[in-house]
Amino acid sequence: MRAVTVVPLKSGSIELTELPEPPEADGPVLVRTLGVGVCGTDLEIIEGDYGWAPPGEPRLAIGHESIGQVIEAPSGSGLAAGDMVVAIVRRPDPVPCANCAVGEWDMCRNGQYTEWGIKEHHGYARERYRITPDFAVKVDISLGHLGVLLEPTTVVAKAWDHIERIGKRAVWKPTTVLVTGAGPIGLLATLIGIQKGMQVHVLDQVTDGLKPELVEALGATYHHGTVSDIGIEPDVAIECTGVGQLIFDVMEAAGANGIVCLTGVSSGGRTIPVDAGTLNRRLVLENDVVFGSVNANRRHYEAGAKALADADKGWLGRLITRRVPLSSWKDAYTRQPGDVKVMLDFTA
Ligand code: BGC
Repeated sequence: MRAVTVVPLKSGSIELTELPEPPEADGPVLVRTLGVGVCGTDLEIIEGDYGWAPPGEPRLAIGHESIGQVIEAPSGSGLAAGDMVVAIVRRPDPVPCANCAVGEWDMCRNGQYTEWGIKEHHGYARERYRITPDFAVKVDISLGHLGVLLEPTTVVAKAWDHIERIGKRAVWKPTTVLVTGAGPIGLLATLIGIQKGMQVHVLDQVTDGLKPELVEALGATYHHGTVSDIGIEPDVAIECTGVGQLIFDVMEAAGANGIVCLTGVSSGGRTIPVDAGTLNRRLVLENDVVFGSVNANRRHYEAGAKALADADKGWLGRLITRRVPLSSWKDAYTRQPGDVKVMLDFTA
């Protein structure tokens, strides 16, 4: 079967290659891939900056944002032929650590987890895969290809879950949210913030076009320029760019008892001057919390599925700015101006 594969850490190695049919050992549920979403992590893997092949294999099939259709599933598994499913990315470490032991693989402590399409296991940019039912999340058939948005939604569903858990350390009545970055993660974080009744401000570089329109269509406020230009003291800030300066600007802007969640994975190697004393003083005197958030567990997939089910389907559809047929697969991995979410379509 055809699969989009790379030799991890080798830039320029991406190819549409043949892979054997998925092994039975991967699970009793056989799924046909309908599409995969492309995200920054895929581009990093393609550029040779990230990613690990399965042990003993030279190449890794990429793709961790998936939507598929069940071809066969054992009776009693909760899945049946025809169901639409999204596959969970991370699998618990084999030890397992205390978190993986209870299904919190997103909080794995020893780093020995695997991530399908990223770390040590083939992903979903292949025509078929096998999976165990506990790692396949059924999505409403009416979502269709929009189900490919579930995985990025889970990342922000987890971020919001942890923001709320931190908020419960004292009386907390948040109203104002700042989201930096209006890519898919920022837009989906905004969607959930609006669903929670918050006033959400979104900052991005672009001055016009689809991103401001998508923000405003949700009832959030779009800004470009700098964080200090916005002039708010948010209760919650969700940083979705990984840009060094913005990270510190957001910490600076957070209001008293503010919670800053960092979701962007930055590449290292750039240094910026920081007045650590002033920043520390502010964080301490205002009880601020800054924390990082990555990945998602099954609970977050369920929360993400609910957020998508409650969202306007027309709005979700506008997030997918390009659907690229498998015959032109390379185009899916070439950034174009105006891209929000690109989907590689295995059905076309
Ligand atoms: C994926 C996460 C993953 C992270 C780090 C992200 O792009 O959405 O599931 O944990 O990359 O590998």
